[in-house]
Amino acid sequence: MPHLKTARLADWQKWLLCLSGGGLWLSGTVWVLLHYFGQIEGEFGPSVHPLEPLMIKLHGLVLIPALMGIGAMMVAHIPKGWTHRSQRLHGVSLLAVLGLLIASGYLLYYAGGERLREWTSVIHWMIGLALPVVFIWHWLHGVSLRRGKTRQAA
Ligand code: HEM
Ligand code: HEM
Repeated sequence: MPHLKTARLADWQKWLLCLSGGGLWLSGTVWVLLHYFGQIEGEFGPSVHPLEPLMIKLHGLVLIPALMGIGAMMVAHIPKGWTHRSQRLHGVSLLAVLGLLIASGYLLYYAGGERLREWTSVIHWMIGLALPVVFIWHWLHGVSLRRGKTRQAA
């Protein structure tokens, strides 16, 4: 069960975030490697690696549980977490990074011009590559905050 009275997350929420987030990161990173370094020699010159479209399909698949997991943060985690002043910067930073990924992901679907799409793609995956750093920074700070409070109470 989620902890409705505190900002702590249930184990299944942590698994959901880690597995779907890890899937997003891996599929995105493999796409970048294949796109920039993995082109193959086709009949009519260099062409897209056959695994590239598969990575995007995988990305779209794990995006569904990832967005469900992020949405679940609105119920208790963020409102309860907001009362911990020292975690606000870490929380807002993580939300800002996720917000940029969601907005640029939307543009990747619907951006009109070729040039705009190219730029959106680079901005999207560069922020995406940095996501684990911000996520782990947020998590570790949250855990040390809780440990500090437990020590104070003892
Ligand atoms: C909440 C987080 C994320 C959201 C909402 C998101 C959303 C999307 C969407 C909607 C697309 C377009 C798919 C298509 O064209 O069919 C996309 C593509 C992509 N994403 Fe993400 N993504 C997220 C995280 C990440 C992460 C962590 C990475 C890590 C590198 C990443 C790398 C990529 C790449 C490389 C593409 C392909 C770009 C292109 O087609 O030019 N994404 N993402
Ligand atoms: C303004 C937004 C946010 C605030 C103020 C916030 C606040 C907090 C606080 C206070 C903790 C420590 C909780 C405790 O163990 O007592 C924490 C931990 C954590 N937060 Fe956030 N958070 C925010 C957004 C997010 C988002 C969007 C995610 C995920 C997408 C997230 C994922 C986590 C995780 C995985 C932990 C470690 C949980 C645990 O060990 O039980 N947070 N956050």
